[in-house]
Formats: sequence, structure tokens, C-alpha cells
Amino acid sequence: MSSLPACFQAKFCLAFAALLVLSATPATATNYDETKVGDYQLPDPLVCNDGSRVTKAETWFNKRRPEILEAYSAEIFGRSPDAGTNVTFNAWEIATNALGGTAVRKQIEINFSGTPDGPFAHLLLYTPAGKTSAPTFLCLQFNGNYTVIDDPAIAIFPSWNGKNGALALPKNPVRGEFARNWKIPETIARGFGIAVIDYREIEPDLPNGAGFKFGVHKNFPPPAADGWGAIGAWAWGASRALDYLATDKDVDMQRVILFGHSRLGKTALWAGAQDTRFAAVIANCSGEMGASLSRRDYGETVDDVAKHFPYWMCGNFQKYAGHWTNLPVDSHSLLSLIAPRPLFLNTGSEDRWGDPHGEFLAALAATPVYALLGKTGITETNFPPLDHALQHDIGFNCHTGTHDVLPTDWDIFLDFADAYFAQKN
Ligand code: GCU
Repeated sequence: MSSLPACFQAKFCLAFAALLVLSATPATATNYDETKVGDYQLPDPLVCNDGSRVTKAETWFNKRRPEILEAYSAEIFGRSPDAGTNVTFNAWEIATNALGGTAVRKQIEINFSGTPDGPFAHLLLYTPAGKTSAPTFLCLQFNGNYTVIDDPAIAIFPSWNGKNGALALPKNPVRGEFARNWKIPETIARGFGIAVIDYREIEPDLPNGAGFKFGVHKNFPPPAADGWGAIGAWAWGASRALDYLATDKDVDMQRVILFGHSRLGKTALWAGAQDTRFAAVIANCSGEMGASLSRRDYGETVDDVAKHFPYWMCGNFQKYAGHWTNLPVDSHSLLSLIAPRPLFLNTGSEDRWGDPHGEFLAALAATPVYALLGKTGITETNFPPLDHALQHDIGFNCHTGTHDVLPTDWDIFLDFADAYFAQKN
């Protein structure tokens, strides 16, 4: 654990400060040394709060799973409101001849309040031309929709700048600027639809939770200590986008795969945990409070998230800073909430902050839950070679490279999706 014991913090802090600087790396420094990870014990996802062991799928679904969900709701991400009936959708553009005739493009305005005050988000959806009921990726993303592919018909909207907190039209928008991260034509060619939504439109990601005033939080009472933080808000928005997809005949509601990278990987896991209509989840480099184990002291820690991104989480989360072992769950518990649905974790060899090994170990620790439900989690005991995807019901890959989504990652995601949801018609 990275924080100093309480007595050090209080009485002896000043006296020891000089010594710490001189002698060694301060205990609060980020650990990147495997030999210093320390021992830890994970809560058993198959042991109920009353100490009884789960041996039947029924007990998992009726008792243990709700306990874990409750722990995440009360202590970590906070409780989200119900779906609500006020959300409205306006598919204002339908083009049947998009991407050189290979796709149908739709642009849909989501009004999260159904009133002129919004907030509004814009969903961009491509589905394969001439097909209905396509398996579809729903992707949370960081930028305007015009960046995911060079398609001049994509509308450009004002967006929130996380650095200066301003809402403005992009100054020099570059269409398709991040197309390499998405591979949309290939996705369509393989029979999948793909929908993207800019997470900042659900709620701007502004320091100290300043975005709550402008995003979906604004339509609800201020959150209590167990109320939803920004990750809860983005996850709720993903479910509302799924509500739209459920109405679209070109999308197969039984085969929607939720994707997110980094903080949006955490979001995808939390959305998939709460909303079992998502048929599968892919979390890319989701790291701390995503897929990597919190009790493992490597890379980013609970303390870092609590300090730098308190508004992502619920108020109660703060009490675990410096007290990780008190967490009622760990990331393997979050992964187990996706079971028995397919789950893929992608990581990067240079993403030490995100702790790829911690994600692998969490996948391994979630495996007994998948096994209980008749699925195959991780069968390998050792971290796989780089760029060698494990394609099980819990899939895992560590690409050579940074905290990113690589074009080669999409090939792996498509293989993963194909194994479960290949286009039938
Ligand atoms: C920071 C944060 C991570 C997060 C990442 C991102 O690095 O510490 O937890 O995953 O931002 O979302 O880009």
C-alpha cells in the first residue's frame, strides 16, 4: 500500500521527511517494481457476505451477484438513477448509401431530459448496407464523432474542453483524425455495426465534478455519499444509447458489444455490470478501478484515483484511500459481474500506470465465477506473451505498446466478437 501509516502522517511526518528523501523512495511513490508489490488477499467472489459458499448458478444470480453489485453501488461508483422515461431520440439523418454504399449511416440526437435544456448527445451509427439486425459495437469515445472516420456528412457539434472547461466548436476539426483507432470500414466489412458517442456530451469531464452542472447529473438531485459519480453518469448514458439501439431494426439488441478505453474502459465495465442487456464488454487499458487489482500495489492506486479524480467515484470511495484492504470487493469482483457474458481485456506493455499484470490476475481471479456458470475464463496461469490474444469467454491480450487502442487491437476485438456474434443474415 502506498500511503504512510497514520502516525507517520500526523506526528512524525516532518521529522521523517528529510530521512525519507535521503534514504529511499517515499512510500507514496508509484511502485513499478514487481518485487515490491507485497502480499495481498482477494475477497472470494464466491463467498457470500454471510460466509456461505456459492456452489449453484442460482445462488450466484440471486444472492452473491446482487451483494457485489450493491458494494460497487454503495461504496465505489455510486448508485445510478433508474432508466427514466424522459429520454428522447431523434434519428435526424438516415443515409442508406454511406461509406461508398457499404453502410447505412444514422445520426441520432439523444435528449437526456426530453426538454429543450437537454443535455444532448449525438450517436453516430453505421450498420452494414442491406442487412438488418446486425451485431453492433457501441463505443464510448473521447472526441467528436467526426474524428472516428473521414466522412464529410458527420455533423460537428460544440464540445467541452476538459482543460479550460469551455464549450466551443473545435477550431480546426480534422475529419478522421483518430480513424486509426477505430477501423470502421473493416468492422462493417466483417458484418458488424458500430455506434460511437462522445462521452463529454453525456457529462463533461471537468475537474472537481464541475461537469455535473452541465451533464446528465443536472436533471437529478445532487448525489449523496453513495450517489453516482461521473463514471456512473457515463455508464448511465451508455445504457440510454443502448435504449436507442433497441429501437433500431438494423441493430440486433441481443448482440450489442460495449467498448471503452481507459476511463471509458472503467465505464464500460461498470455499465456492463449494471446493464445485462449488453451482450459483451471490451475494456481497453481500463487500469485502476477498472480491471486491474486494487490490492496489488503497482502503477496507479486507489489513493491516486481518490485524489486526482474524486468526482469519477461516489463520495464513500474516499474512505478507501490508504485503506485498500477494507474494500469489500476488488476488480475481479467487477469482472465477475459481467459473467457469463463474453468479456475482453486489452492492455499495453508500456501502460505500467494501468498495470497489465494486475488485469490478467483479476481475470484469473474472476475465472471461478465464469466456471460456475459453465464458461471458460482464463485457462493459462502465466501472463501470455505480448501480442498473443487469449480468446476465451474472458479474453485477454497485452499489445506491444502504450496506453492506446492500436489498429491491430481492433482485429483482435473483431475476432473475439466473431466467435460469439458473427452476422447470421
Ligand atoms: C489517468 C487516470 C487513469 C485513466 C486515464 C484515462 O491516467 O489516472 O485512471 O484510466 O487517465 O482515462 O485516460
